[in-house]
Amino acid sequence: MAIQSATPELEKVVPEAQDFLPLLGTDYVELYVGNAKQAAHFYKSAFGFQSMAYAGLETGVKDRTSYVVEQGKMRLVLTTPLTKDHEINEHLRLHGDGVKVIALWVDDARKAFAETTKRGAKPYFEPRVEKDADGEVVKSGIKLYGDTVHIFVERKNYHGTFLPGFKPWKSAYNPPTAGLKYVDHMVANVGWNEMNPWVKFYEDVMGFANVLGFDDKDISTEYSALMSKVMSNGNGRIKFPINEPAEGKKKSQVEEYLDFYNGPGVQHMAMATDDIVKTVRELMARGVEFLKVPSSYYDNLLDRVGKIDEDLGPLSELGILVDRDDEGYLLQLFTKPLQDRPTLFIEIIQRKGAKSFGKGNFKALFEAIEREQEARGTL
Ligand code: FE2
Repeated sequence: MAIQSATPELEKVVPEAQDFLPLLGTDYVELYVGNAKQAAHFYKSAFGFQSMAYAGLETGVKDRTSYVVEQGKMRLVLTTPLTKDHEINEHLRLHGDGVKVIALWVDDARKAFAETTKRGAKPYFEPRVEKDADGEVVKSGIKLYGDTVHIFVERKNYHGTFLPGFKPWKSAYNPPTAGLKYVDHMVANVGWNEMNPWVKFYEDVMGFANVLGFDDKDISTEYSALMSKVMSNGNGRIKFPINEPAEGKKKSQVEEYLDFYNGPGVQHMAMATDDIVKTVRELMARGVEFLKVPSSYYDNLLDRVGKIDEDLGPLSELGILVDRDDEGYLLQLFTKPLQDRPTLFIEIIQRKGAKSFGKGNFKALFEAIEREQEARGTL
């Protein structure tokens, strides 16, 4: 994919939100991982990401290696430290592999920094210009929940492959894509009583609006209760649901995450496809493991969600979930955790008009999660 250089028009779909930044889209997501070379191979072979860019010893970077992989509009950066005292080691020790940076594409990274820090954001780093032969990029950063950060990326004067300092990554191994198009939403898990302060952060500091919410009555099974509020920017392209644990009979899935991640962080990235049956079939063939709901889920599915375009057969064969709201329906499926700690996972989603997040599936889904927690001895 060529890096988008034209500024798209910013249609306002969330009227309550303010667009003082404004955000054009997700620029990239950076994960700190224990072995970037192997992680890049995994995201290529299992999820269909394509080799894009590389920075490391061969490009003059001495202390870390980063591989960039892309699919549709998504770019993942996988970064590993090379030296024993690198600060990324501490991130890995505490959190294991996980999301460090949710980078947001802006027209003016200096202004984004000034506007957000003026409203109370803690700086991660001041605006800085990075240059190479392909032009310049302005970046700035603010801190979020836990050790997670937003980096604002202004790239209108840059024409290179990814960012200054990166070289194109040409690989002889290029498995096909899996039809994943863009980041639909990214979900944070925060601690007890921390959801509302982070909702307020996104409202006050980022100009987002709360578009949906679920309390523990919506999202509780016997055990795995949580509460959630969905924050959106003005053009609706950036959506961040924020979860906190709720009291249940046993341990909430959010608490399990917080225990293993040692604090708040990104719980899942939802990636959109236009053909979920094809995408999920492809991912399964490549070894991606998904949460499984019981086959009884499909017995009364059409009574619950009404008429859908898809045949029920492939949906139940693959375990794809369906939910409907006032505006349409959606199809979704969740992977098991992507690393040994039960922390980050990926959601595959196809929207057919619905703007919600699958509330009708929470019970079946959380029961599936509880079966996994039970097997891990963390329920
Ligand atoms: Fe989700």
